[in-house]
Amino acid sequence: MADLKKMIEELTKLRDQINYHNLLYYQKHAPEITDAEYDELRQKAAEIEARLPEIDRMQDGVGAAPDEKFSKVKHQEPMLSLDNAFDEQGVEKFLSKIKRFLIRDEIEILCEPKIDGLSFSAVYEDGRFVRAATRGDGFVGEDVTSNVATIKGFPKTLQGVQGRLEVRGEIYISNSDFLKLNESNAFANPRNAAAGSLKQLDVNVTASRPLKYFAYSLIGGAEKSQSEVLNRLDALGFCVNEHQFLTDNINGMLEFYNKIYDCRYSLDYDIDGIVYKVNNLALQSRLGSTHKAPRSALAYKFSAVYAKTKLNKIFIQIGRTGILTPVADLVPVNVGGVLVSRASLHNQDEIKRKDIREGDVVTVKRAGDVIPQIVEVDKDSRSKNVSEFVFPEACPECGSKVQNVEGEAAVRCPEEFTCRAQIIAKLKYFISKDAFDIVGLGGKQIEFFYDLGLIKQIPDIFTLEEKLNGFNLKQQPGWGEKSIAGLLNSIQNKKAIALDRLIFSLGVRFVGRVTAKLLASYYTSYNNWYGNMIKLPLNKEIFSELESIGGVGKKTAESLKSFFSEERNMKMLNDLIFHLNVLPVNVNSSDSILNNKIVVFTGTLLTMSRGEAKVRAEALGAKVGSSLSIKTDYLIAGENPGSKYKKAMELGIKILNEDQWRSLI
Ligand code: IVH
Repeated sequence: MADLKKMIEELTKLRDQINYHNLLYYQKHAPEITDAEYDELRQKAAEIEARLPEIDRMQDGVGAAPDEKFSKVKHQEPMLSLDNAFDEQGVEKFLSKIKRFLIRDEIEILCEPKIDGLSFSAVYEDGRFVRAATRGDGFVGEDVTSNVATIKGFPKTLQGVQGRLEVRGEIYISNSDFLKLNESNAFANPRNAAAGSLKQLDVNVTASRPLKYFAYSLIGGAEKSQSEVLNRLDALGFCVNEHQFLTDNINGMLEFYNKIYDCRYSLDYDIDGIVYKVNNLALQSRLGSTHKAPRSALAYKFSAVYAKTKLNKIFIQIGRTGILTPVADLVPVNVGGVLVSRASLHNQDEIKRKDIREGDVVTVKRAGDVIPQIVEVDKDSRSKNVSEFVFPEACPECGSKVQNVEGEAAVRCPEEFTCRAQIIAKLKYFISKDAFDIVGLGGKQIEFFYDLGLIKQIPDIFTLEEKLNGFNLKQQPGWGEKSIAGLLNSIQNKKAIALDRLIFSLGVRFVGRVTAKLLASYYTSYNNWYGNMIKLPLNKEIFSELESIGGVGKKTAESLKSFFSEERNMKMLNDLIFHLNVLPVNVNSSDSILNNKIVVFTGTLLTMSRGEAKVRAEALGAKVGSSLSIKTDYLIAGENPGSKYKKAMELGIKILNEDQWRSLI
């Protein structure tokens, strides 16, 4: 206990120092210590925080972070996204799928507007507000406790609440407040304004902004349905959206959509669709979630908005995988509240099919967060003699002859390891927010160091310090002792890296954030992952194992295989690893008897659908196979089992009937 007290005292002292230096640096612009010394203070504070029990850690919220980054908060339950539907068929499909999953003819659905803001989580301990976080990457968010505390009408205490209660919802700025705010700012839309206002290091700025919120979820309550959750939130003093509608059929769901769609401009906040939620929370938890979204909810998005503008020029961008993407440079136009000046033209075929030419008047479409598209060209307003756009046959950056991508309309610059544009795009990807996220090393600096020959490939980032020994960087515009020390320090700080970030940062095609996480938690350590990956080109079993990891699939496995078939990638990775300490994934040791077991189903289960049974088994750590082998641990046999039953007997595999299966789960 004495230790705990000492730790808290030490932490308080450190936080005071950090706050003092924040003030000097950010507001007075007159720092007294170097970046490195500052980082050391933060590092010490972080070390103590990591050792403190959660409740003590939260006592006075962490001091403002030194850069655009906030302290990180791990969500107790991931903040997932929602699956989308864009038409009535999508909604019908959702309803029939959940009915099939749950084997039920009737299901109550609660309909709510989908607020176009940014989601938050707020945690209360024994009725006291202790922490708020943004969604972040869904697993880890940014600590915005003191920012959220400034929102008018955000409850700091809850009457009669014991233990932990988490409230989730959406923070937004009303349209009328947005207009006023933008008289002195230049936010593209209310959503950006809300995000920009919330994520302020100086909470006084947040406090001066007209942030509002709607609460819609509760974790840790005793409610049995979403309608009860909304009532309870309201009773606890949270702002809850007035529009909600309970129905048990598709007509009701669509009526609510139409009603809200028609009145959407009379609401003083932006909504981008309707959210449908299975009302019964027990059924919600039976439905569970995929790695991206709960199966029990759906967003029916409003259709797109359109605007006309002039296309100035078509230019070609070369991405990290070498694909040449044509991009339209537009005369900026307001499309449903967002200023659009670029639109993706996808590929050569798309330009031909729509006959898009430079100088054309075009119709731009924007749907949700999707990159704006050009839907059509106004050919009547085209002047005569405008020639067709000629797609380059050589890479505009390095001049190599482009190649067709098999099975796709795209073309690619083949010089993966020598084309400046590709190398720079890869380097930029490597340091991006979801990858290594190196403070002080952005796109501009990457180009700068590349052109100086100091960073030619990824591992060079970690030898920059040595290379700078023989180079007078201080003579270059924009560089001084402090910024150099800060940069080297933040590179140093990223040498300890989580496995999923490392996997993501390599920029392997189809290996995005979610897949990188799946791979990291499957292989758990760098050595195990790497050991398996290098065998991919020759070992079919390792390939099929990879392909069968839930959420991975053939395309991704092929892409990893081709990455690891290239000597130069392996050399790069080995050079890189030399500098890194890759943190292994913590595997939750589960005492479920299904953990890591291979389970196969046969016959008809009477009390749950096959889909639900599979999800339940996977949730308990099992892998669900489709055919029996000596590796199978359990065969779950329902009514009228097939030939698998006999085969399992022969192989001596343990067979469970439906009752035994149910008591197991
Ligand atoms: S329920 C699993 N209800 O939409 C997430 N979300 O596109 C379920 N959103 O991340 C959240 N209004 O930030 C829910 N009435 C509402 C919502 C809502 C807006 C946001 C939320 C979510 C995003 C998904």
